[in-house]
Amino acid sequence: MKKFLELISDEMKKGFIQAGYDEELGRVTVSNRPDLCEYQCNGAMAGAKKYHKAPIMIANDVAAKLADSEVFCEVAAVAPGFLNLKLKESFVRDYLKEMAASEKFGLEAPETAKTIVIDYGGPNVAKPLHVGHLRSAIIGESIKRICRYNGHQVIGDVHLGDWGLQMGLIITELKLRKPELPYFDEAFDGEYPKEAPFTVSELEEIYPTASGKSKEDPAYKQEALEATLKLQSGNRGYRALWKHIIDVSVADLKKNYADLNVEFDFWKGESDADPIIPGMVEELKQSGLAHESEGALVVDVKEETDTKEIPPCIILKSDGAALYATTDLATIKDRMENLHADSLIYLTDKRQEMHFLQVFRVARKSGMVSSDTELKHIGFGTMNGKDGKPFKTREGGVMRLEYLIRDINEEMYRKIVESREDISEEEARETAKIIGLAAIKYGDLSNQASKDYIFDIDRFTSFEGDTGPYILYTIVRIKSILNKYREQGGNLEELAFQNASNAAEKDLMMQLSGFNAMMKGAYQEKAPHKICAYIYDLANAFNKFYHETKILTEENPEKKAGWIALLLLTQQVLETCIDVLGFSAPDRM
Ligand code: ARG
Repeated sequence: MKKFLELISDEMKKGFIQAGYDEELGRVTVSNRPDLCEYQCNGAMAGAKKYHKAPIMIANDVAAKLADSEVFCEVAAVAPGFLNLKLKESFVRDYLKEMAASEKFGLEAPETAKTIVIDYGGPNVAKPLHVGHLRSAIIGESIKRICRYNGHQVIGDVHLGDWGLQMGLIITELKLRKPELPYFDEAFDGEYPKEAPFTVSELEEIYPTASGKSKEDPAYKQEALEATLKLQSGNRGYRALWKHIIDVSVADLKKNYADLNVEFDFWKGESDADPIIPGMVEELKQSGLAHESEGALVVDVKEETDTKEIPPCIILKSDGAALYATTDLATIKDRMENLHADSLIYLTDKRQEMHFLQVFRVARKSGMVSSDTELKHIGFGTMNGKDGKPFKTREGGVMRLEYLIRDINEEMYRKIVESREDISEEEARETAKIIGLAAIKYGDLSNQASKDYIFDIDRFTSFEGDTGPYILYTIVRIKSILNKYREQGGNLEELAFQNASNAAEKDLMMQLSGFNAMMKGAYQEKAPHKICAYIYDLANAFNKFYHETKILTEENPEKKAGWIALLLLTQQVLETCIDVLGFSAPDRM
């Protein structure tokens, strides 16, 4: 289905053609003087030079041709040559009617669906999730859903940090604590136990302990390095133990991500790239791209047009060890060869910008990715506390994600029981969880990803203003009216849109009609904040209409059914948008 603004521009272009002017002049934009008109066209001004005519004359010619338009009820040529436009109510009504009857409200499917891999989350095994991982998960999940809704084939991969020194550290500490375990017995050739020799809470304690010790004690660190090497070179016992660490950790991560309504298609990790590394390194050497520098193997990636220093990408350290970049390159190779990706998108803190710039350049230079494959790093800003510094616990430590969610839910719960006496404890807790998630996610996603933002519990959990709870409140309000309409005997299957009868209603209708252009734009720019801005405007337009209109007591059944049709569409569009953002609305609140 054509976009609303496209149809309007098409009509305007017809006017220009009929008046003997270039159709390109007929581009229409939303009015920047909403007090004067709804849309505007500045083409007459642009055409003045070409046609050696005063803009107002051109504008008058075009306006005359559009006097009987099906689209415009008003085309006013005003000095010095603007065309101020108002839409016919019937045109807006028919557009909504078609939208409501179309799949995805008329959003057009792409000509060819792309295969897009989104690398997000990126937690490290055996370390609890902290707020730093929150943004990657929230933004990545939304971008995944945006791409999917726009008709593409999307694969979300968590890309676990499961292969580095942290593994060696845990193994070293376990060996110290439980040397009797068969994993450390080189002579053991039986089957290893199925049960892990630790719980997830033990694991979460072991890692920081080991990490602390290694900083104090060089011998301990040396042992951890050796353990890492032993694991990476395939020691049977270490591999078995490592598998336990992954399993225990992943089970816990899945639970945490599920609470965030975040879901991955692939649970691959850095370790999966490991077998690809030797062959890839060989190819980089063979092609002459990689060369030795101070004992290390590097690829030069700087380009003449660079305005800042781009250091070479290190592929292997002088001791032969692979690095973060090596793993990422091998993973790209894997994603290209096995998934034939058209686009690879990464979500990390923007401090990793240089890393991805280097990796992408090596990938392109080596021909690992073709020129028509898109490589995109979306670097996001920091989530700060009210003091403007990175978000911390009250004691100044790194805030665990679990606690942050708990705090938000607690605050939401407090607000719910304060405003509703009739609610049961259970429902209040359940509802608090749903609204709490919306508060966190909307608070994050409504900012442009690259910007830092302040995590403000009071503001995020407010039912008023540009917040998640406000959007949910609006949806719940609509649901309640629709329920009452049903209780009055109304049938939601038999509704017909009517012409708008007042300005607030027309405004709401025009907001709705912008859905598919907005959704396409959010996809093109990978910008969830555009969806947030849209639903905030839509919710405001709805609430204005609602306060001015007595819907359920309206006596004219057609008029009433028309309003209900409008409500239903508003609810569906809002719920689709929040689903794409990665949260949902309760039935009551
Ligand atoms: N585990 C990494 C970290 O905590 C993030 C991984 C991001 N993805 C990637 N392919 N490099 O910083």
